[in-house]
Amino acid sequence: MTLQRPLVAVVTGAGSGIGLACAGALAARGARCVLVGRRRERLEAAAAGLDGPATVLPADLAEPGEAERVVAETLTAHSRIDVIVHSAGVFEKAAVPEATAAHWQRVMDINLGAVMALTRAAWEALSDSGGQIVLVSSIAAMQAFEGNAAYAASKGGLNALGEVLRLEGRDRGIRVITLCPAQIDTELWDGKAPDSVRDRMMPAAGVGELVADLVGADRRIDIGPVVIRPVRDPWVEPEPRAHRATCQR
Ligand SMILES: NC(=O)c1ccc[n+]([C@@H]2O[C@H](COP(=O)([O-])OP(=O)(O)OC[C@H]3O[C@@H](n4cnc5c(N)ncnc54)[C@H](OP(=O)(O)O)[C@@H]3O)[C@@H](O)[C@H]2O)c1
Repeated sequence: MTLQRPLVAVVTGAGSGIGLACAGALAARGARCVLVGRRRERLEAAAAGLDGPATVLPADLAEPGEAERVVAETLTAHSRIDVIVHSAGVFEKAAVPEATAAHWQRVMDINLGAVMALTRAAWEALSDSGGQIVLVSSIAAMQAFEGNAAYAASKGGLNALGEVLRLEGRDRGIRVITLCPAQIDTELWDGKAPDSVRDRMMPAAGVGELVADLVGADRRIDIGPVVIRPVRDPWVEPEPRAHRATCQR
């Protein structure tokens, strides 16, 4: 489905993984994407692969003032913001004794603080356009995994933030979509999961398509937090077919 008019979509974490997939799917539906992340070369490669023109806007969103600059430069280039996909994030694990204050702060700054900073900076523009905010949260917001203290707290906070944004945004015509995915095969899993497990994760491209479909959904529909997961837990080795058939008899 093509979006009704060309939307201006700011996508963070757009140089890789879910952000890149969302930008790809939105651009394929005619959106003009503004690609945000720290590594310029990754953003330029992403832009080159999109349908249609895209703006590359390198920024470290954990740094003070960067969210405001991203919004100002987007408005200078495009005059409006219709969608923000907040996909920039880090997945750093640490058991409680190793979860230092610096680790905690780093995770909170990008996974939660930067989302609020960018949303606040874009709030008036989103109010003007009746825009949409996509929060890429995680299943970790609601399911505990060992070593996930900071990550889970950041994503749980993101879900809570999403509900407040939904309430405060409603009368401004702003829709909030909180996506809570389980495992998606992206660089986030580099060094954290073997290939055999990654092969059983969700594909980022499919998740991007889903996000673009949700953004394109009838605006009279409010979309609650959306949980998505692979059909089977990728960490659990599937039983051999023959054995499964015997057990089902
Ligand atoms: N993959 C999964 O299984 C999964 C599941 C649930 C939720 N998520 C969430 O999905 C989001 C995207 O992750 P992914 O799986 O697509 O992994 P990814 O490929 O590592 O993407 C993370 C992106 O965030 C950007 N980023 C990190 N720190 C940043 C900063 N300070 N400023 C600006 N950009 C920054 C990175 O680009 P630069 O390094 O160039 O800045 C990168 O493009 C994350 O929020 C993650 O928590 C992922």
